[in-house]
Order: sequence, then C-alpha cells, then structure tokens
Amino acid sequence: MAEQVWFNGKVVPLKSAKVSVLDRGFLYGDGIFESMRAYGGRVFRLDEHLTRFVASAEALRLPLQYGKKQIKGAIGELLEANDLSDAYIRLALSRGVGGQRLSLEGEFRPTVVMTARPFTGYPREFYRQGMMAVTAGFHTSPDSPALRHKSANYLANILAKNEAEEKGAGEAIFVNANGEVAEGAVSNVFIVEEGAVVTPPLSVGILPGVTRGVVLDLCREQGSACREEAFGLARLFQAEEVFLTNSLMEIMPLASIDDVKIGERVPGEITHRLMGLYREATSAGR
Ligand SMILES: Cc1ncc(COP(=O)(O)O)c(C=O)c1O
Repeated sequence: MAEQVWFNGKVVPLKSAKVSVLDRGFLYGDGIFESMRAYGGRVFRLDEHLTRFVASAEALRLPLQYGKKQIKGAIGELLEANDLSDAYIRLALSRGVGGQRLSLEGEFRPTVVMTARPFTGYPREFYRQGMMAVTAGFHTSPDSPALRHKSANYLANILAKNEAEEKGAGEAIFVNANGEVAEGAVSNVFIVEEGAVVTPPLSVGILPGVTRGVVLDLCREQGSACREEAFGLARLFQAEEVFLTNSLMEIMPLASIDDVKIGERVPGEITHRLMGLYREATSAGR
C-alpha cells in the first residue's frame, strides 16, 4: 500500500505531495514541527502537542490555517489511510512561499504536512542497561528564541547528534553559555539527586517538552520530590541517576556521559519507577 500523507488539508499519496523550491521552510528552515507517538490509534498527550504547536505558530507569526479540531480529525484519517495504530506522527508547518527575503511582511502560502509512519523504537537493551550520551562540543544560548520552539531549524541538533553517534553514543547533551545543563539534541534532561528529581527550568533555553511535563506531573501525583532548577556539569556527572525524555523514546536511562559512569545501577530506582508509570499512562491513554 502506498504511503499517504496529509498535505495542505488533504490526504494524498506521498508521491504527489510536492513543495515549491521557494518554500521558506526549505530556504531558511522557517517553520516548526511536532513529533508525536500514537499508541493503539491514539496520540498520547495530543492536546499538549497541539497547544505547543499552535502557540509556537502564533509566537513566530507563522500562518496556520487549520485549528486543533481539524488536525485531530486529520490524524485519525491519516492513521486509517496508512492502516496504522502504533505510529510516529510528524506534523510540519512552513511559512511557505511569499515575502521578500527574510521579511515577515507580505502574503504567504504556508505549507502543512503530516506523516504517520510505523514506530521503530530505540533498542530494548537501552531501556534495560541505559544509553550512552556525550556533552555537545558547543554551547547553546539561553536567550535564543528558536530553542523554545520545535523550529524547523535543527542544524545544531543534527550536528550534535552526529557528534554523539561518531563517538558511539545515542544522544548529545547541550550546556548553555552560562555553563548550565540545557537539554539533549532531541530530548529533555533529568537528574536524581538525594532522591529528588531535578530538571532544568525553561529559562536555560530549552524546548518545553511534552514528556518533561508528563514526568513532572507523575512525580507530583505520586508525592515524589521534584523541582525545576538549573545545574552545571559537575552535578550532572555526580547525579545518582540521569534520564532523558521525549515523546518517541519516552523515558531513557543513561548509563554514561562522556564515558563517565552514572550512578550505582541502571536504570536507577526512581527512573525505573517513572518508566513504569509512564508506560501505564500511555496504555491507559491518560
Ligand atoms: C531539542 C528537544 N528538546 C526536547 C524534546 C522533547 O520534547 P517532547 O517531550 O515534547 O517530545 C525534543 C523532542 O524531539 C527536542 O527535539
């Protein structure tokens, strides 16, 4: 069966979805995207994903001609058209064609594309034994406006992830120009210190991850100690446990960072408990 995509409001075969060479997403990375995971035909935390997407579109003055309701309907159509129930769903919006060079003035014909593909996860042993990570070879800026959005401009993330892969690791962790641990190339970072879960605040210049929000909610619901607080590399390396989150990988324990072993046991007790609670939430569709 030929893959179907949602392209500017219609489900069409992938082959017939074509974008102009003048599209600003192509020319400048002028757009945003959203990565979501469907379990049993339903996207986990869909409202949070669409709220972030619509808020970023507004903040970046990207014209979005579809509302949340239409996008939700399109997800159902797309899963059905591709005969999928567990899937990786990617929604992208570009400013499209229009305007003069970098100017935001003028008329634009935005491009919206959504794909649904079979979900191929991370190796299972990563969840049992932990993934390796490295620190990125360059700093991020805490006040970069792009980092707060899932912008279509992922060059720094691509370079950092590639650097990690060249060193045999699965993820690169960014430290910002103030020496604060920020986030991974495709994930948010958490540490466990004296039994408390700590994650960097949004002010260090990170994406407000949907999974990050779920983990903070799970900790609060359980009455477990958790807080948003900036920390540097020394605390990262000395943490009892370190884990990463994103909508596709869920909660990923780290075994080492820059070849420094993390904690006594991987996954650590708190990470392990959160992994179980997260899985329960996804299977209950909460
Ligand atoms: C840079 C960055 N930070 C954090 C995340 C985690 O976001 P979410 O939990 O919404 O998937 C991602 C996801 O891809 C990301 O690319």
